[in-house]
Amino acid sequence: MAENSSALRIVGPTRLAGEVTVTGAKNSALKLMAASLLAPGKNTLYNVPQIADVDIMSELLTRMGCTVAFDRATLTMEIDVPEVPGHKAEYELVRKMRASINVLGPILTRVGIAEISLPGGDAIGSRGLDFHIAGLEALGATISFEHGYIIATAPNGLVGATFELNFPSVGATENLMTAAVLAKGTTTLYNVAREPDIIDLGEYLIAMGARIEGLGTSTLTIEGVDALHAASHSTLPDRIVTGTWAFAAAMTQGDITIKGGRADHLEIPLDKLVATGAVVTSTADGFRVRMDQRPIAVDIATLPYPGFPTDLQPMAISLNAIARGSAMVTENVFEARFMFVNELRRLGANITVDGHHAAVSGVPLLSGAPVAATDIRAGAGLVLAALVADGVTIVEDAFHIERGYPNFAANLRALGADVTVI
Ligand code: UD1
Repeated sequence: MAENSSALRIVGPTRLAGEVTVTGAKNSALKLMAASLLAPGKNTLYNVPQIADVDIMSELLTRMGCTVAFDRATLTMEIDVPEVPGHKAEYELVRKMRASINVLGPILTRVGIAEISLPGGDAIGSRGLDFHIAGLEALGATISFEHGYIIATAPNGLVGATFELNFPSVGATENLMTAAVLAKGTTTLYNVAREPDIIDLGEYLIAMGARIEGLGTSTLTIEGVDALHAASHSTLPDRIVTGTWAFAAAMTQGDITIKGGRADHLEIPLDKLVATGAVVTSTADGFRVRMDQRPIAVDIATLPYPGFPTDLQPMAISLNAIARGSAMVTENVFEARFMFVNELRRLGANITVDGHHAAVSGVPLLSGAPVAATDIRAGAGLVLAALVADGVTIVEDAFHIERGYPNFAANLRALGADVTVI
């Protein structure tokens, strides 16, 4: 998909079949890039996805004094970090991408001050920062809000502490981890997120010389060190992109082999697909999803990892929209994530929303219409729905999808879809 594409035109219905390759995870690569600020010198990241958000994070790091070189052919990124990086992240960039908040922990702990504009990002709920703030305060930071900026200071460095998150927030876990690695003494974090992204970040930090125990569990113990050194790390494959292709196969009664996809990071979503009638088999370097019948409706409730990911919830609703029977999709992570349901209704989906529950009654075929993407995953969910809609669907505001799915239109075409970027 071209950089500034504004809409996708999809003619359905289509069956997707063939092979697709999944590259590094957006939600991991962006955090690895931000964490590079912790180590002066040349850091190298492999398997970095070619998506718009990576370009935004590159720009942010460049403005903080780093030299970023991204070789798009090999998906290798070199980030040369100065001895003292800048400490300000401005509104203009932060508003485009919530993951900008991930520079807060590294900058505060290394420079002693961070001024970060309050983030924007997807319109999927309130997305507070209270755990980030309370956790950094527990580590000894002083935090204030001025003119739309979070100003965090710790002139004498952070000090290890014990902190429990009220909810296993991915972003807060990352900010606290990347702050604690250079704090004086031991930090124990309870009720942390267990997403594979957290393990990936932790492994990169360990490669830099950090001392972290408990990755992948609910408790992290971090022994602060005086300094970290530049390192290299390969980004883990994108489990949400992988899951999107898996749902696409099941919905279109297709047959997709997902190269590089990690089935072990998607146990619950794949179990759900099997319940809809799909056949999931592992391959040498990924897995294959095949579907020979109209899917059977399946109840789904989103939860922090290893639960069903909220980022695949739109795909779950789209699948149920054309399934045999009715199902309830419950959103437990982001309260406003059903906004795209109105768009799906425009395609003829039969969905009733009550609070954080969406009751979906399947129809045999949707009906093509103009719709608009409201965020990355809603956009992808609408594209999947368009594939099982009769006639032409135009998905407006497709730039949202580019933020998370590399070469989405080209990949869809290679699998047999009739998709044009307009
Ligand atoms: C990350 C992902 C996003 C994914 C989400 C949950 C990135 C760039 N984004 O977002 O794609 O959907 O994890 O898997 O990696 N919360 C608070 N206070 C806080 C922090 C969070 O109330 O201080 C709430 C949020 O409003 C939300 C819930 O906790 O309701 C989960 O948020 P969190 O896990 O922090 O998501 P992000 O890291 O923003």
